[in-house]
Amino acid sequence: MVEVNLDFVEGLTLKERADLVSGKDFWFTAKVPGFDPMMMSDGPSGLRKQDVDSDTNDVNQSVKAVCFPSSALTASSFDDQMLYQLGHHLGIAANAEHLGLLLGPGVNIKRSPLAGRNFEYFSEDPLLAGRMATAYVKGVQEQGVGVSVKHFATNNRENQRFTSSSNVDERSLREIYLSQFERIVKEAHPATIMCSYNRLNGTLNSQNQRLLTDILRNEWGFDGFVMSDWGAVADHVAAIKAGLDLEMPGKGPQSTDEIVQAVKEGRLQESTLNRSVLRILRSVKKWGKKVNKSEPYDKDEQHDFARQMADDSIVLLKNEDQLLPLQKGQSVAMIGQLAEKPRFEGGGSSHVNAYHVVTPLAAAPTGTKYAAGYSLTKEELDQKEAAKALQIAKQADRVVYFAGFPESMETEGVDKTTISLPAAQNALLKQVVKVNPHVIVVLENGSVVEMPWAEEVPAIVETYLAGEAVGESTWDVLTGKVNPSGKLSESFPIRLQDNPTYGTFGVDHDNEDYREGIFVGYRYYDLHQIPVRFPFGHGLSYTNFTYSNLNVTENSDDVTVQFEVQNTGEIAGKEVAQVYVANHASRVVMPPKELRDFAKVNLKPGQSEEVKLTLPRRAFAYYNAQQEQWEADNGRYEIMVGSSSRDIRLTKDFNLTIGVNPIGKITDDSYIGDVWKDQDPKVQKALHESGLYQVIKPMMEDKKWVVISANMPLRSLTASGVDEKVHQKFMKLLK
Ligand code: BGC
Repeated sequence: MVEVNLDFVEGLTLKERADLVSGKDFWFTAKVPGFDPMMMSDGPSGLRKQDVDSDTNDVNQSVKAVCFPSSALTASSFDDQMLYQLGHHLGIAANAEHLGLLLGPGVNIKRSPLAGRNFEYFSEDPLLAGRMATAYVKGVQEQGVGVSVKHFATNNRENQRFTSSSNVDERSLREIYLSQFERIVKEAHPATIMCSYNRLNGTLNSQNQRLLTDILRNEWGFDGFVMSDWGAVADHVAAIKAGLDLEMPGKGPQSTDEIVQAVKEGRLQESTLNRSVLRILRSVKKWGKKVNKSEPYDKDEQHDFARQMADDSIVLLKNEDQLLPLQKGQSVAMIGQLAEKPRFEGGGSSHVNAYHVVTPLAAAPTGTKYAAGYSLTKEELDQKEAAKALQIAKQADRVVYFAGFPESMETEGVDKTTISLPAAQNALLKQVVKVNPHVIVVLENGSVVEMPWAEEVPAIVETYLAGEAVGESTWDVLTGKVNPSGKLSESFPIRLQDNPTYGTFGVDHDNEDYREGIFVGYRYYDLHQIPVRFPFGHGLSYTNFTYSNLNVTENSDDVTVQFEVQNTGEIAGKEVAQVYVANHASRVVMPPKELRDFAKVNLKPGQSEEVKLTLPRRAFAYYNAQQEQWEADNGRYEIMVGSSSRDIRLTKDFNLTIGVNPIGKITDDSYIGDVWKDQDPKVQKALHESGLYQVIKPMMEDKKWVVISANMPLRSLTASGVDEKVHQKFMKLLK
């Protein structure tokens, strides 16, 4: 095979090179001597490989593939190993289909519950999103298939996604919107990154040099190629200069001509073009495969994995009086058309032509009665259908009520206008609860939903979009075949109005201002102590877990957190132990707590396990935008260990000393109180040697005046009668 280096690239004709920086069509890179086109396909939760003979972009016209749960559900597993396995299976499928690249995962942060693509993304929390995606990417790429991590970056709404500008302050950008990409790039080395449609602070992402080159390559060391989202390129030449390598899809001869012309006219340097060509060819060499007929692979095994994954991710939100699991011998009425026509995947480019869908109706235990009750396509409740549902509800020991959003409400390319369930579903549920209070609501939805009936319903199960094994997994959990262990990867507000983006999201066609800054999801609800329906990290089990013996130890470079989790119930179960950090050291606004690590433990009844996690310095850091660096400040932190963000079981105060001094450099503007508290030995020495210590001491010990004195800058000391020479000597000694 040919050696891919600059010499080889320079040996290609200008036209060949210009061909290569645009897709040959929707799914292929261009062919040049020595290299076949490389094929790519969506997507995150199953292959959407376009039939090579069909050139339409009809998302439902792809080859059959196993539809795995959507990322909203897989993230609820909080299980890195599970995500790795998902990647592994996708890699096997992609290999069998001769794909070079898989277009996924999508890792954008769920900032607003109305964002149309939330179902395709992992979380409102960047650590969780980053961890899940890193494992997934490793799983795919270890099978010899590259990925394209998308959508880079701040693509947090669908309406006007081609043009609107996400206006984000630097700190929030780094901490919330980029840090998951950073982790994936550094730890999993993805083959490609897909740049998003939108603008970031006014600059189109496909032409954003700071994003695509300065941050992605120079800071994080990304060494793959950057492709555009489909149609995200407005000015091809400007995009290549900024660091975009591949325009997707190609515009045919126009794409080639514009590059050739730009080089001839000196608007694009050949070396810049060659740089992109080299990156693309290296990737084609590494990941590309010869186009061929699909090879067989074990789809039944993949279906079983899809089921297992949903089993381990479904979230038991509420379970009063241990209504679940259902007991043998209980008669069950199943209500809701979603049991028969389930939502198990989202719409748009992630849509999979599912191999073998098992509906909840088909998987229901024998003897289960069914009535559709409401229709997914009608606003109004049909009284005759409703009456049939109420009839079976009355006669049953338990009612399982399926509720959720219809597909039209949840698809790529458009944002939602509400997070309420269709009125007919809520109305029927209210009537059902009246005739039989033993109701279990099973939710099928891609993102958060309001539950005005939550208090009246004793049990709620969140299955999100569970993939093609939806029916099997749902009943696995309902019957107790599987003990649920999923945890919410996003907060469920009581009302949409409680969310910080309420009233501003999507209003301005041109701009989306990220006014809430770093206070996204639980960071916001916690700061304002707003009650939520179900908090981030929440999820129940059919057994109980206790937490004990929290120990926190600082090492030379990181911090060890150790604790014990015990299964104190009667059956085996898995628990996601979550470690949050509260920063009381830094002098910047901080969320009350932030998720910094987690571990999923699998325990038999009575069994306990010691969990030992290592928090790097970064777990204590915030992004100091002025200094353009991450800063972990020395001082007081709390380590909180819990079963959810609002069910903290163990807390320990801890003093970080391996960071930096939060007081920073002392200047004439520094406050006397800070100088007095500064533990830096150099400062202490200068205080004593200059004589300033003796001057400040009485001020700091005077109970009446200490607060006022502490709040005066060094430069005002002379005004309080202090000899200026003492102040000057102190400053000199600090130099
Ligand atoms: C989506 C991408 C997808 C691409 C190709 C775009 O509309 O935003 O996520 O990978 O289409 O289908």
